[in-house]
Amino acid sequence: MKIDESEFIIVLAPMAGITNGEFCKKMALLGFDMVTLGGYNVDDHTIEAGRKILARGRPEFDIKKENIILEIERQAEIIKNSTNAMVSVNLRSVSPDPIIEISKLKGIDVVEINAHCRQPELTEIGCGQALLSNLDKLKYLLDEVVKKSKSKVSVKIRANIPGNDDLKISRIIQDGGADYLHVDAMKPGFEMADYQLIRSIKGTTDIFLIGNNSIRNIETAREMLDAGSNAISIARATMGGNIPFDLSLI
Ligand SMILES: Cc1cc2nc3c(=O)[nH]c(=O)nc-3n(C[C@H](O)[C@H](O)[C@H](O)COP(=O)(O)O)c2cc1C
Repeated sequence: MKIDESEFIIVLAPMAGITNGEFCKKMALLGFDMVTLGGYNVDDHTIEAGRKILARGRPEFDIKKENIILEIERQAEIIKNSTNAMVSVNLRSVSPDPIIEISKLKGIDVVEINAHCRQPELTEIGCGQALLSNLDKLKYLLDEVVKKSKSKVSVKIRANIPGNDDLKISRIIQDGGADYLHVDAMKPGFEMADYQLIRSIKGTTDIFLIGNNSIRNIETAREMLDAGSNAISIARATMGGNIPFDLSLI
């Protein structure tokens, strides 16, 4: 297991309904240092929300509550059996308990709190990016998970949501004891990441920063690292089951 953070630079970002064990294993064999399973819906509320999302045609992992723990352990095992990649798991939950339970599973190196998804079925129940406008809830979730987790803890956020203070949110996540801050530096109206925001977050925090959004070639990967990200993550560029550039050149 790679746990030395200097060795972990290239991360597969989560894609619900896509990034299962087999997909992550394939990406790990192509050179990703850390792969992210999920996002999984892991409590009654988010499982129900996921079913509604699935019903309107978006990809989701639809796993029954009684099977979720075993299923995540099985998916992590698929990756660990044939690669050295670190395994993170992106989790949607309104309560900390399932996240803490999953942090104890064999094969899980990182639990990632999803403060990112914007589907209304999830935000209506206070999950995903709704956590970024309910900072007391975010602090509570993070505090409980950090206190009791057996794995490292990441928080994935979506940047540039009108009304949110991304620097304040980043400091809360750092001060709450998270190991990693995973930022989707989405820049509304642009097909590129908000590198200036990454620079600003780096300037006001010391947390290990995973920069995400619109990395599709060596240039955009380097730009994200040059802006101050400690690691980069990639989602859509892998959707075809491949990566259109040589990760070893980053
Ligand atoms: C089909 C799909 C499903 C996604 N599901 C999740 C998810 O469950 N949890 C999450 O944090 N991000 C999710 N994302 C967001 C990606 O992890 C990533 O933040 C976003 O696509 C921007 O990165 P990219 O430009 O490299 O694709 C999803 C993205 C796509 C395209």
